[in-house]
Amino acid sequence: MKLLVTGGAGFIGSNFIHYWLNHHAQDEIVNLDSLTYAGNLENLLSVEHNPHYKFNQGDITEIELLDKIMPGIDIVVHFAAESHVDRSIRKPADFMKTNVLGTEILLEVALKHKVKRFHHISTDEVYGSLQLHSQTKFNEYSAYNPRSPYAASKAASDHLVRAYFFTYKLPVTITNCTNNFGPYQHPEKLIPLAITNVLEGKKVPIYGDGLYVRDWLYVKDHCRAIELVLTKGRIGETYCVGGMTDEISNLEVVKRILKIMGKSESVIEYVKDRPGHDRRYAVDCKKIETEFDWKPLYDFDTYLVQTISWYEKNHEWWTHVKNGEYTNYYKKQYQE
Ligand code: NAD
Ligand code: DAU
Repeated sequence: MKLLVTGGAGFIGSNFIHYWLNHHAQDEIVNLDSLTYAGNLENLLSVEHNPHYKFNQGDITEIELLDKIMPGIDIVVHFAAESHVDRSIRKPADFMKTNVLGTEILLEVALKHKVKRFHHISTDEVYGSLQLHSQTKFNEYSAYNPRSPYAASKAASDHLVRAYFFTYKLPVTITNCTNNFGPYQHPEKLIPLAITNVLEGKKVPIYGDGLYVRDWLYVKDHCRAIELVLTKGRIGETYCVGGMTDEISNLEVVKRILKIMGKSESVIEYVKDRPGHDRRYAVDCKKIETEFDWKPLYDFDTYLVQTISWYEKNHEWWTHVKNGEYTNYYKKQYQE
């Protein structure tokens, strides 16, 4: 099999490439990534000389480039996106271009070259926000109700993927996953931000009252879910992925990180809230559990310890990331 992975130099895409080459060594992967601020080839150093892996720098909105890359591709796994909610609030147009237009162009070229599968990586944020302490969870039948420019752009991309299935019979599948964490995550996101700020002796910023709830999933469990959908998933279907931590607040997540790292809670700094901040996400994963027997392999705290240890051991990786474009972004986001 030959896979085209878009956005493979980002957090989840690079974890997926490592996962796939480890479990399907005979397959070939082409990684197409434009290397935005979030794309980092240091995530892929250990595979760069693997003859089954090839990197192509390019944008998913470049139709001529896609036309050259797509012949011979069996499966497209589409990760490429602008992925950070706070940046979508500052500059929504970038999100419309890559997440909406880019997805449409990729679908068009995949259809033209008759790929056997187009798998779209999406998010639980398309379903909106849940109330704190309610029993309600999102599932595959929840109504779309995106509330940030990022979520709206991902919702539009999901609709386009389904439109290509119903209208043109493109063989698609979609996964809507909860918040990932683990190795190679950009420190703009809460968990690596907290860990690396602690390692640098800085404060850890918490938005608003800190009582927002996310449903955290270790990135390798997400990669395994994608593998199951690619190998066993039914064409045209959507699968929700997550379901590990539906009651743990951001404040509690940060307190657990501080405890594991042996630091005082006095480093927590309450900062101004994110506009339109979604209160709670929680996903019911019954479908993927019953169809494929998928569930996270370990619990949240075990994975948190592993993740902290990865950032402790990979100081050079995250200092490179934090010293680049991120320095200016951090000032604008947290100090203005
Ligand atoms: P990321 O920001 O770490 O990586 C995105 C990658 O896409 C980067 O390598 C970037 O260079 C590349 N890219 C961006 N625009 C591009 C373009 N126009 N053409 C080609 N490449 C481009 O993102 P991530 O956290 O790894 O998320 C990957 C996917 O998973 C996204 O579609 C995101 O919506 C989805 N998702 C993320 C999470 C999460 O918690 N991180 C959860 C659910 C779903
Ligand atoms: O739910 C899936 C989504 O999870 C993905 O689709 C997105 O790509 C991914 O970025 C993530 O979105 P969130 O906005 O939930 O993740 P983030 O790490 O930015 O924030 C997690 C929570 O922590 C959220 O409630 C906001 C809060 N937060 C975040 C930052 C960066 C803080 O309190 N302080 C911070 O400095």
